[in-house]
Amino acid sequence: MNLWGGRFSGKLDPQAWALNASLGFDQRLSFQDVRGSIAWAQALEKAGVLSSAECTQICDGLNRIRAEFESQAFIFQESDEDIHTAVERRLGELIGPAAGKLHTGRSRNDQVATDLRLWLMEAIQGLEAVLIELQSALVARAESDLNLLMPGYTHLQRAQPILLGHWWLSHFWPLQRDRERLHQVGAHAASLPLGSGALAGTAFPVDRQALTVSLGFSEPSPNSLDAVSDRDFVAEFLFWAALTGLHLSRLAEDVILFSSAEFGFFELSEAFSTGSSLMPQKKNPDVFELARGKAGSLLGYLTGLMATLKGLPSSYDKDLQEDKLPVFNACDTLMGLLPVLAGAVRGMSLHPERMRAAIEPGMLATDLADSLVQKGLPFRQAHNVAGQAVKLAAKLGKPLDALSLQEFQTLDPLIDSNVYMVFDPLQSIARRNVIGGTAPEAVRIQLQSAKSKLYK
Ligand code: ARG
Repeated sequence: MNLWGGRFSGKLDPQAWALNASLGFDQRLSFQDVRGSIAWAQALEKAGVLSSAECTQICDGLNRIRAEFESQAFIFQESDEDIHTAVERRLGELIGPAAGKLHTGRSRNDQVATDLRLWLMEAIQGLEAVLIELQSALVARAESDLNLLMPGYTHLQRAQPILLGHWWLSHFWPLQRDRERLHQVGAHAASLPLGSGALAGTAFPVDRQALTVSLGFSEPSPNSLDAVSDRDFVAEFLFWAALTGLHLSRLAEDVILFSSAEFGFFELSEAFSTGSSLMPQKKNPDVFELARGKAGSLLGYLTGLMATLKGLPSSYDKDLQEDKLPVFNACDTLMGLLPVLAGAVRGMSLHPERMRAAIEPGMLATDLADSLVQKGLPFRQAHNVAGQAVKLAAKLGKPLDALSLQEFQTLDPLIDSNVYMVFDPLQSIARRNVIGGTAPEAVRIQLQSAKSKLYK
């Protein structure tokens, strides 16, 4: 069935028809389409457009269609252009001519925008649940691995010792911000386009406020032209997905590095790693590599949508049909990825001795400088003295803490035998006892705060 045949005498070219049709992907909106249509029929009844008998007939028909979708008994036809057409066609088959009244005052323009917003508002709940799953896994790791020592890096160069619990939590907080952003995306999606008609607003006295409440939105859209063109909620969702992907990619890259033989800090569980078809010894971090790779695809969905929107005039244009696939793809990608990463994080085993051994005394050079600051030296000067100590140790071919007291004192006479206490990484870590620092006490407080976000 074609909803717009009246002014045409010829048929659409078959390939053009196939290009135009969106049923292949928008059938994922089937439940939302039925829900929106039931609410619309009830609004038309209240507006005096449908009799109560007609409204009941239409709603009964739509409920039967919903049941057909649920039991997968709904049969799509070759001629169904999109999900909206399919539902209306089936309604006609089920209830006869009254079906033709449902679309009064409505356009597929406000209909599709409503359906997609409804879909996203529901999908967001599932996405939040899997986000929380990974956050919980990170928190559980932080708790059990809290006191293990590891080298911290900047520029991928050994920098300062930290606690492994601190590192795990460094991947928790970005996801917490993602969760907060996801709520905002949901809040922005909750502006109801239905009642905007094709572009100018519906000509029937529909109570849009009541419609808003019945569909679980927070407000009716304030401008009908804007409402049929507005895809900000899609762009915001895809930005959210791209940024979440980026955070997962960063976690993945760390894990991939740390589980390589060169680092040897982590060992992936068998359930979350794969072998090589050629090299029998291999254990590959495919799951994390896919997280890193999919982050690229997620970014692509965002840029693709933005490019589609750029250059459109206001109101509805068919280009907007391209908004759905990136939304579905981004959602599917993260729904698939996040639980797997959570499992992989939980299942990982550790080599604490390798992490500890990677903390070499040179990483305590900042602490050496800090100890000279305690003795009254300005930090710039102290930094220079510590730098010279590093240079001298390298020249003599020994670790920084193996310099003799005399050697240290050639650099600055303020240095005394207490200098060797500086090279204890545990002390170094314990000194960083500020809010957000890596000291055990600070990390324990951080962990409590992470948990309180999680179980809120
Ligand atoms: N399948 C269309 C979409 O997804 C529905 C809206 C069609 N509107 C129109 N004026 N042709 O955007």
